[in-house]
Amino acid sequence: MRHLLDTKSLARRDALRILDVAEDMADTQRREVKKLPTLRGKTVVNLFFEDSTRTRISFEAAAKRLSADVINFSAKGSSVSKGESLQDTAQTLQAMGADAVVIRHGASGAPRTLATSGWISAGVVNAGDGTHEHPTQALLDAFTIRKRRFGGDSRGRDLAGAKVTIVGDILHSRVARSNVWLLETLGAEVTLVAPPTLVPQDVSAWPARVLYDLDEAIADGPDALMMLRIQLERMTAAYFPTEREYSRRWGLDALRLAALAPDSIVMHPGPMNRGLEISAEAADSPRSTVLEQVANGVSVRMAALYLLLAGADEATPPSQDSPTDKTDATEGSTR
Ligand code: NCD
Repeated sequence: MRHLLDTKSLARRDALRILDVAEDMADTQRREVKKLPTLRGKTVVNLFFEDSTRTRISFEAAAKRLSADVINFSAKGSSVSKGESLQDTAQTLQAMGADAVVIRHGASGAPRTLATSGWISAGVVNAGDGTHEHPTQALLDAFTIRKRRFGGDSRGRDLAGAKVTIVGDILHSRVARSNVWLLETLGAEVTLVAPPTLVPQDVSAWPARVLYDLDEAIADGPDALMMLRIQLERMTAAYFPTEREYSRRWGLDALRLAALAPDSIVMHPGPMNRGLEISAEAADSPRSTVLEQVANGVSVRMAALYLLLAGADEATPPSQDSPTDKTDATEGSTR
C-alpha cells in the first residue's frame, strides 16, 4: 500500500490486512510499555487544514507509539493562511524529508491531488477531505463492529451478514461515505436513515438502502446503529425545521435506545452533539462504543502507518511475543 486515500477503491484484501494488523497493534497497546521501535527514523507530518481534535491526536499517538518523529502542521497560524498553496506546502514538507503525510482538508479530493501530483514522495493518508471520505474512521468503525461481533480474536473475519444502520446528516458526512463503501466490501448490509433533505442526490448509486423513519429502522434489528453528528458548519441552508424537531424524529433518545436488541451497539464518530442526534443516556450507556472507537482508532492508525511506511506485503507486523520488540520497547521506556 502506497497511500490510503479512500475506502471506495480499497481492496477487500487490503482492508482485512489493515484490520488484522490493527489487532496486533491493539495487543501491543495492552502492554505496560506501549511504544514499538518499528518506525524509528521515519517522519510523519500531520497536515491539518480543518479543525480536528480526536483524529489529529489519534494519528499523533499512533505515529509516536511506533517511534516515528511527528510534525504537527495546522493551517491556522501557518503560511497557508497567508495564501500559500497546497503545492508550496507539499514541496516544503518534501524538502523536510516527510515519509508520510496525514492530511485533513476542506476540499474533497485534496489528499488524492497530493498523492498523485508528484510534489512529494511521501505516502499520503486521508484524514478527512470535505464531504468525500474519511477512510481511517470507517476502518476503526469496522474494527469496533468486528471486535464486538466475534470477541477475542477476530482476525481474518469479515462482516458478512452484519446489519449496520447509519443515521443523520448523511449529506455532509465523509464518515458515512467511507463506511458505506467499506461495509459493502466487508459484506455488511447498510441502511441509511435521514430526513429527505439530508440524503445525498446520488444515493441510489450507493450500496445501501434508505429509510426516512428511525423507528422503522430500529424495529429492523440493526447490529450497529451509527449516529452521525449534525454538521452545522457545513450547512448553508435550513435542512430541518428546528433542532428540537430533528431530535424528536431522528435523535437516539432513551425510548429508542430501549427498543434496540440487547446485543446491538450504538456508535458515534465524535464529536457528539448531546441532546441533538444522541441523548446523554444513549451516549453513556453500556451499548455505546464511543470510547472504544477512540481507542481502536489508535490501533487502526498504527496499522495504516505501519503498512504504508514499513510494510511491503511481506513485512511482518510486530507480534506480542517477539523478543526484539520487547527489548526495543524496554529501551523506549528509558527515554
Ligand atoms: C468526523 C469528521 O471530522 O469527519 N469526526 C472525526 O473524524 N472524529 C465526523 C464529524 O466531524 O462529525
